[in-house]
Amino acid sequence: MIKVLVTGGAGFIGSNFVRHALSTHGDWEVTTLDKLTYAGRLENLKDVMDNPRHAFVKGDVADPTAAGPLVAESEIVVHFAAETHVDRSIAGAGEFIMTDVYGTFVLLEAARQAPSLRRFVQISTDEVYGSVADGSSRETDELRPRNPYSASKAGADRLAYSYWATYGVPVIVTRASNNYGPNQFPEKVIPLFITNAIDNVPVPLYGDGLNERDWLHVSDHCQALDLLIDAGVSGEVYNIGGGNQVRNVDLTRSILQLLDKPESLIRPVADRLGHDRRYSLDTSRLRRLGWTPRISFDMGLAQTVAWYAQNEWWWRPIKDADPAFRTYYESQYGSRDA
Ligand code: NAD
Ligand code: DAU
Repeated sequence: MIKVLVTGGAGFIGSNFVRHALSTHGDWEVTTLDKLTYAGRLENLKDVMDNPRHAFVKGDVADPTAAGPLVAESEIVVHFAAETHVDRSIAGAGEFIMTDVYGTFVLLEAARQAPSLRRFVQISTDEVYGSVADGSSRETDELRPRNPYSASKAGADRLAYSYWATYGVPVIVTRASNNYGPNQFPEKVIPLFITNAIDNVPVPLYGDGLNERDWLHVSDHCQALDLLIDAGVSGEVYNIGGGNQVRNVDLTRSILQLLDKPESLIRPVADRLGHDRRYSLDTSRLRRLGWTPRISFDMGLAQTVAWYAQNEWWWRPIKDADPAFRTYYESQYGSRDA
């Protein structure tokens, strides 16, 4: 059996990856290491908790006593664990430095000593390139992160690379674009807008709404990671993008249309500080390895809207009943007029 460690596996992409890994690879034993922060939810893993090839460990990646022994026994480490929400990093960056940078350092130190390790996947992000006015970012482009989240991710991205260059740890770095799909915490734009609209609550669109993101369905992301674990070359970086450039205002209109809700629900609000205008990825390096996204944005968005409509049990306890989410929402949006 091949031992695989997935950090952050109770989060959005991590849980989708754990499910993908267990169903695709009958010879993988997967351990999820997750601190269960506000974004980590055991419900995301409910269909694999009884799987004899899956183990869940609650722990902090920045704690060597929790992370070290798990890395030591692994052949493959896929490191998703991070603080991930840009707006929260603007409100306070401390946790981002501790988890995204220091936590990555702790895992890499353990990886140096791991006898059977053959792949360490550092999950980075397209945000490390900063805002791109035109064209698409290539893996060799300069990194120009512009918010505390993306700066912490850029630090971890280059730290992981340095452990390959210096110590020969078999690192690959992946930089994905904006993911969407089931199980995404309802602070991110797509699940926030879907769930607000279901409840006829206004959807807070930042600034002029013309910022652009490149949307990638989470299952296409998981397929790409799976391919790269074997086909990736240590020391290399791989962009993973869906090729779906969409302006926020158009995304918002599509969500409202799919739910048959009026555009009057759009509430223009003050812009995010330092809001990156546009991200766009050149994915030719990954495509040369045979990957291509399978889910069109129209289909993926419709499926995602349907998933939230059919799975209120998943998000209502967060949005309707969790006082921490209420406090967060109030502080982000309460008096945020355009
Ligand atoms: P998420 O916020 O949904 O989940 C993060 C998970 O990490 C949670 O389960 C949380 O409990 C766990 N975690 C946080 N701090 C931890 C710690 N100190 N120790 C152990 N576990 C901890 O995030 P996501 O959207 O699934 O993102 C996963 C990864 O992918 C992140 O590294 C993120 O930077 C990267 N990424 C995300 C996107 C996106 O669009 N969501 C795009 C590109 C890259
Ligand atoms: O690009 C990859 C990144 O995508 C990941 O690395 C991050 O972890 C992930 O959170 C995401 O970052 P963004 O900041 O792009 O995602 P978010 O969903 O927060 O915002 C998407 C766009 O929507 C952005 O232009 C801001 C806008 N927005 C967001 C929120 C939450 C709004 O207009 N209103 C909102 O309420």
